[in-house]
Amino acid sequence: QNARESLYIVSEFAANYFANELWTGEDGRAIGLSYFKERGFREDILKKFQLGYSPDSWDALIQSAVGAGHKEEYLEKTGLAIRNDKGRLYDRFRGRVLFPIHNFTGRIIGFGGRTLKTDKNVPKYVNSPESDIYHKSNVLYGLFHAKKAIRDADNCYLVEGYADVLAVHQAGIENVVASSGTSLTTEQIRLIGRFSENVTILYDGDAAGIKASLRGLDMILEEGLNVKVVLFPDGHDPDSYMHHVGSGEFKKYIEDNRKDFILYKASILLKEAGTDPIKRAGIIRDIVESIAKIPDDIKASVFIRECSGLLQVEERILLSELNKIRAAKF
Ligand code: UTP
Ligand code: MN
Ligand code: MN
Ligand code: MN
Ligand code: MN
Repeated sequence: QNARESLYIVSEFAANYFANELWTGEDGRAIGLSYFKERGFREDILKKFQLGYSPDSWDALIQSAVGAGHKEEYLEKTGLAIRNDKGRLYDRFRGRVLFPIHNFTGRIIGFGGRTLKTDKNVPKYVNSPESDIYHKSNVLYGLFHAKKAIRDADNCYLVEGYADVLAVHQAGIENVVASSGTSLTTEQIRLIGRFSENVTILYDGDAAGIKASLRGLDMILEEGLNVKVVLFPDGHDPDSYMHHVGSGEFKKYIEDNRKDFILYKASILLKEAGTDPIKRAGIIRDIVESIAKIPDDIKASVFIRECSGLLQVEERILLSELNKIRAAKF
């Protein structure tokens, strides 16, 4: 317990160090702060999420932390410092802008660090590793700042990335979280479920985002939550789209393009299938498979009816398909 507390404390120190570099460091301001500003992020958002900058040095954080009395052991255990095979410690985050990751009580447990380079060989994000205080599968980026708004709105927007959380917040929508650095887990969905039963997926409008949304919506249905999806045009993600059209237009887009999962799945799959009747039959089965994940029978039957209307298939046929899928599961 005491050791865990030390990990929280050193993480907090690091977040303050990185934020101080961003706002007052020479490189931090010239490189980090101007990067965020060029991307269109407002200062109040940068401050609210405690964003930072790690100097392009091998041990700037380590020097500062050890100088302030923090033990190397804790820097290593949080993954802020890495020991090489010669036994030397070096900083994990070097020359990156940093997104501190909070647990839902607001304590800092890890970081995501974005490169400022456009070089494709450099990983875009470097993330803190798992540690005694950071279990990725149980953490949602932004939840601490979103939880009240999720309850009030009785809906949670789910995005892919750190920058998306910031951008959606900046648009005035505060009920937004991301599954930082992992694909969505059942634990993360249950965590959302403590605040609301309604999830709206806002993933990237590219092939990877669409694929992840189809996987995510099935997982969300399986946990008994309701799920809607918004698809962004032209490969946009929420961050790029918000900055592209502005916050007013962004909000309107979400309102106008929110689809329940059946309509969303049907529109995605029908686009892929074209007029091929065999493929279209496959789609019907695919959608019924999603409906079969819903634990509540009454809800499932409502969606069967919707699906029947939408795809012009008799309800009776869909129901027998549903029962077949369910029987096969046991
Ligand atoms: P994206 O590639 O969509 O990045 O990955 P992004 O969030 O739009 O980032 P920007 O706008 O270019 O800055 C979505 C999320 O996946 C994780 C990060 O959490 C990222 O925000 N990711 C992505 C990684 O952990 N590592 C990577 O190398 C890339
Ligand atoms: Mn992406
Ligand atoms: Mn993205
Ligand atoms: Mn991207
Ligand atoms: Mn992005």
